[in-house]
Amino acid sequence: MLEQKGNWWSGRRYGCVIRVLKETDSTNDDVRWAGERGAPQGYVVLAHAQKKGRGRMGRRWESPPGVNVYLSILDRMKVPMTQTPLLSLAVGLGVFDACVALCGEGAEEKLWIKWPNDLLALDAMGKYRKCAGVLIESLPALQSLVIGIGVNVNQITWPLALEEEAISLCQIFQRDFDRWQLVQLLLDKVGARVSQVEAEGSRIVDCLLNRLAWIGRPVTIDGFAGVFIGLDGGGALCIQDGWKVRKFWSGTLRLAG
Ligand code: BTN
Repeated sequence: MLEQKGNWWSGRRYGCVIRVLKETDSTNDDVRWAGERGAPQGYVVLAHAQKKGRGRMGRRWESPPGVNVYLSILDRMKVPMTQTPLLSLAVGLGVFDACVALCGEGAEEKLWIKWPNDLLALDAMGKYRKCAGVLIESLPALQSLVIGIGVNVNQITWPLALEEEAISLCQIFQRDFDRWQLVQLLLDKVGARVSQVEAEGSRIVDCLLNRLAWIGRPVTIDGFAGVFIGLDGGGALCIQDGWKVRKFWSGTLRLAG
């Protein structure tokens, strides 16, 4: 199914074992379960469909069969508390890298990262819509992380509630994409960015800044409004309101107005 060409996995951080399921509740739950039973570093669960796909902030992640990518990765790295926000940014940047590599020339100008790690694109009406999301959950007892990634790849119809919010790579670039190629790219690129945080810490912020949506624009986060002026070295979001600058480590960022 996932064609392993030559020694594809050799030297890579993720993908030593890839379990492919036709349908599951949530790949994050499957990886958590396997992690608690000794699954190795870089273990991956990939599903064609999820019945209870989960998003950030307790939201549901729409996961219809056969059109998108839903995968979760076990990372047994010991993350110092100070690096958790950077790691979350690194995963988003890795998803961006993978989608740009898949979609080819011109893709860099069409995709944006919404802090901390959503992938957005502009639709034909000039509205930002989401095409990928990341849910990172920790397993404190095991000092491990479950990194869940969902990418809307070839989906073209949406439930009413998502019609104005969601978009797929197929809708952005007007062609179908190979989901298996995207899986390999995600494992490579996300693995490389997470390793970069381990090696270089906050330098990941410099790599990310020109990919971020809405810098310089009025935004809201958790009831606070201001101008999004950038990130600090720890990956916190900085919002300016008059002479005040506030920092946020979590929350849902929205364009104001
Ligand atoms: C979000 O943007 O709210 C995060 C979405 C994360 C969805 C992925 S799909 C694979 C993995 N399994 C889940 O239940 N959620 C994540």
